[in-house]
Amino acid sequence: MSSSQEKQVLVSGIQATGRLHIGNYFGAMKQFVDLQDMYDAHIFVANYHSLTTVQDGALLRKQTRDVVLDYLAIGLDPQKVTLYTQTSIPELFELTWIFNTLVTVPWLERAHAFKDKESKGIEPSVGLFDYPILQAADIVLPGAHVVPVGEDQRQHIEMTREIVRKCNAVYGTSFIEPQALINDHVAVVPGIDGQKMSKSYNNTIPLFGTDQEITKAVMGIVTDSALPDEPKDPETNTIFKLYSLIASVDEIASMRQGFLKGGMGYGDAKKLLAQAIIQMVTPMRERRAYYEERPDLVDAILQEGGARVRERAGQVMADLRKKAGLV
Ligand code: ADP
Ligand code: TRP
Repeated sequence: MSSSQEKQVLVSGIQATGRLHIGNYFGAMKQFVDLQDMYDAHIFVANYHSLTTVQDGALLRKQTRDVVLDYLAIGLDPQKVTLYTQTSIPELFELTWIFNTLVTVPWLERAHAFKDKESKGIEPSVGLFDYPILQAADIVLPGAHVVPVGEDQRQHIEMTREIVRKCNAVYGTSFIEPQALINDHVAVVPGIDGQKMSKSYNNTIPLFGTDQEITKAVMGIVTDSALPDEPKDPETNTIFKLYSLIASVDEIASMRQGFLKGGMGYGDAKKLLAQAIIQMVTPMRERRAYYEERPDLVDAILQEGGARVRERAGQVMADLRKKAGLV
């Protein structure tokens, strides 16, 4: 970690609300792996955010552990990356409170997650209302310069930037305004029905499913009724969009040609896609099994990561407490 001082800080997290899918992987998590050498990366499980939807202790504990295993499985290297859960950083809640007092109710009412629930007639909890503020604390405490996320998180990062400006203006802190890192190429990964892939829409391809589960999901991709010999437009085709994320340049070109000229049937294209996904996840599964069999090692990784962030969090809060007149 000797060179981490010169590197910019990267922070991102995922909620522990269920099985990860390939939308999560290509939209957010793959960037974590791709960027782990370039940045001083801090990757955590947003298990406190998850309480806004999961209120079953045993389930939350299991899902939190699953996300940690998924992180390790996709190739996050615990020697390079600081891995932790929010539980390790109680200072998050102190900062959340101070931020709460700096923003207004109408401003927070603009947040998508809150508006979505309201428009569905669901009464949002105070925790859900405050979700973006806890997220801002997640980002600010480790000192993030960049936050890799999917497109749907853009608003949360923009809100964090506004809170940072407000806090700096009011208390004279020098918190960094973080940049969202959104991979435009894969900003929204389509699900098997063509809509955004999301666990809320039941249209996912699980990242760590069995071969059968992956194949079944891929075979369920909705297509039109064009016959194998007919030419098809690859750009509007979910199979091709997903294949383009995974396959090699030559394989992608070959499927594209097959669709454009005719001769590539949807059934064959689905088989190629399922094979490509399984090939991609096989080494990840092996790494996942390795860590699954070593729970003490995983605990030690989380403890070390948590302690590292907490040390910095303590310094940040000591300074802010003084500035805010709390000590
Ligand atoms: P879900 O929509 O399944 O509930 P989350 O909201 O937990 O997923 O998202 C976790 C991360 O994965 C976020 O950074 C989000 O932007 C990203 N993500 C989720 N679904 C997609 C998708 N279909 N395309 C791109 N990124 C996605
Ligand atoms: N809200 C993010 C999601 O649903 C998860 C999250 C919580 C997060 N805190 C964060 C992402 C801080 C990036 C940085 O995916």
